[in-house]
Amino acid sequence: MEEKDYIYLTPMPVRIWHWLNALGIVTLCITGIQIRFPDYVNIFGTYKSAISLHNTAGIVVSISYALWFCYYLFVAKSLFRLYIPNLEDIKSGIIRQALFYFFFYFLGRPNPHHTTPDCKFNPMQKAAYLVIMLVLIPLIVVTGYLLMNVDLLRPTIMVLGGIKLLVSAHYLIACAFFAFLFVHIYLATLGHTPFAHFKPMWHGWEEVEEHHSEEHGHH
Ligand code: HEM
Repeated sequence: MEEKDYIYLTPMPVRIWHWLNALGIVTLCITGIQIRFPDYVNIFGTYKSAISLHNTAGIVVSISYALWFCYYLFVAKSLFRLYIPNLEDIKSGIIRQALFYFFFYFLGRPNPHHTTPDCKFNPMQKAAYLVIMLVLIPLIVVTGYLLMNVDLLRPTIMVLGGIKLLVSAHYLIACAFFAFLFVHIYLATLGHTPFAHFKPMWHGWEEVEEHHSEEHGHH
């Protein structure tokens, strides 16, 4: 039987962060819908219980985010290498990858990006994950924290433009997360098999596609 090649792609702290974060964000989206549209949606009984679950999930997401950030910055020291697109990515890589997802994938062409542990994201992933992880999560955590402590932090809230602006910003960023979630899960199924990208998020190892396997060692 043919031996398959694997690369170790996703270390355990990243996997723990990812699934804790996914559970937290999905909980935040569902409770958030009830909090935003209480007249139409009632999933968690009372309005109060939706709010306390929302606050708890927010705390879980912010703590797991700190774990992700410290791990990539201080332990793996690969945050900038993996997550910041280079000039080549911006000039042509993003377009090449988008063309693949929208068109060439359906013609059965191979993915133009070859994943390695040192360059595990394609240019589109880099750009999207950079915005999500280093802009949107910090913004939604800070706006959420201010909204959780309105009485205590009123002076700061006033300086930032008032409670209405804060609520709108928090809601708009939440909509971006909601949209990201669907696109993220759909694109994650476009590996050489539908679960090829899910497996390394579970046990860390990704199977190398046959025509790239000569470059890597056996596992
Ligand atoms: C049920 C929800 C989710 C599922 C099924 C899911 C699935 C996956 C899969 C299969 C991968 C590996 C392939 C890839 O890199 O694209 C991945 C990676 C990733 N996901 Fe998700 N995801 C979910 C929610 C989220 C959420 C809510 C966020 C952020 C707000 C997120 C951020 C990321 C990031 C940053 C990576 C790369 C991690 C790394 O290797 O450093 N995911 N996800």
